[in-house]
Amino acid sequence: MPKKIAVLSGDGIGPEIISEAIKVLNYLNTDMDLGLVCDQALIGGAAYDAFGTPLPQQTLNLCKNADAVLLGAVGGPKWEGLAHAVRPERGLLGVRSELALFSNLRPAFLYPQLVDASTLKPDVVSGLDLMIVRELTGGIYFGEPRGIRTLENGEKQGFNTKIYNESEIRRIAHSAYRIAQKRSKKLCSVDKANVLECTELWRNVVTEVGKEYPDVQLSHMYVDNAAMQLVRAPKQFDVIVTTNMFGDILSDTAAMLTGSIGMLPSAALDANAKGMYEPIHGSAPDIAGKGIANPLATILSVAMMLRYTFNEAEAADRIQKAVNDALDANVRTADIYSEGMVKVSTSGMGDAVLNALRVS
Ligand code: IPM
Ligand code: MG
Repeated sequence: MPKKIAVLSGDGIGPEIISEAIKVLNYLNTDMDLGLVCDQALIGGAAYDAFGTPLPQQTLNLCKNADAVLLGAVGGPKWEGLAHAVRPERGLLGVRSELALFSNLRPAFLYPQLVDASTLKPDVVSGLDLMIVRELTGGIYFGEPRGIRTLENGEKQGFNTKIYNESEIRRIAHSAYRIAQKRSKKLCSVDKANVLECTELWRNVVTEVGKEYPDVQLSHMYVDNAAMQLVRAPKQFDVIVTTNMFGDILSDTAAMLTGSIGMLPSAALDANAKGMYEPIHGSAPDIAGKGIANPLATILSVAMMLRYTFNEAEAADRIQKAVNDALDANVRTADIYSEGMVKVSTSGMGDAVLNALRVS
């Protein structure tokens, strides 16, 4: 049985970064005889333009029938005026929800070569290696009721609902504890339990699940403090588990600790390790089409896919090493460029990784 990958390039820089990731994937597929087969489909704004919906049925079917999904990015100013129900982002949220990809792993790892690319002082970030486990299919992103309504006095009111069932908290807590067990056995749960009942329940359930993982040291932190601590002393964290929206925000912060948001991959997994893999950055419409985007987050997402869904640890290691070797060769895209380095295009960076793979 071939192992199937649904490839969704999406919008903005999506197609540019995905083609570099596919170059790397194709090379390894042949070189290591991995038996992977890729199929492309439209999502987001590109799908809206072609079919009037950001998540066409054929795209969803392709994702459901695949073993893994590789996604670029969705969205852009062109579609910002659309009704929420057909916005590009809804395509992405639809795949996450329909495939029950509730466990979102967002590792923030600083390559030593990029220590000067971070806006933070080298001693604050050097050696940084943390993992944010973000709940991905619940919370305020999906809670009902939601909308914009007009009150009796004619004033408009916008509303969303932050809601978590115990079972949703329980399963993401298990994911996070298991990951903590494989790392340094330290887990920090981030909430706003001083104000939001929903996350008071979150705190209680995470604590209770912790009884099954006595080897993991659990701590709790309010999200405002966590945001501050992430830029003050990020190395105090190893694994962070948090809600959908807090995870969205904290992972962008964590990304900057590593020099550039263009470096961070992610995995969104269901209960059976089927997953969608995507860079955590967006479609960057301001630089789309210019060939300057950093493809490394997407290439590293392929490594996560090989590791988590296809159990090809050796192939994943080879990609990570090749990225390291490309950085050692001093090639940099604009977002991670510093003086004395060689500035390369999106495809130049893809080629540098490929060259490193060829000699590995
Ligand atoms: C992310 C993105 C998405 C999110 C958007 C594009 C819907 O910011 O994956 O972090 O908010 O989850
Ligand atoms: Mg985000």
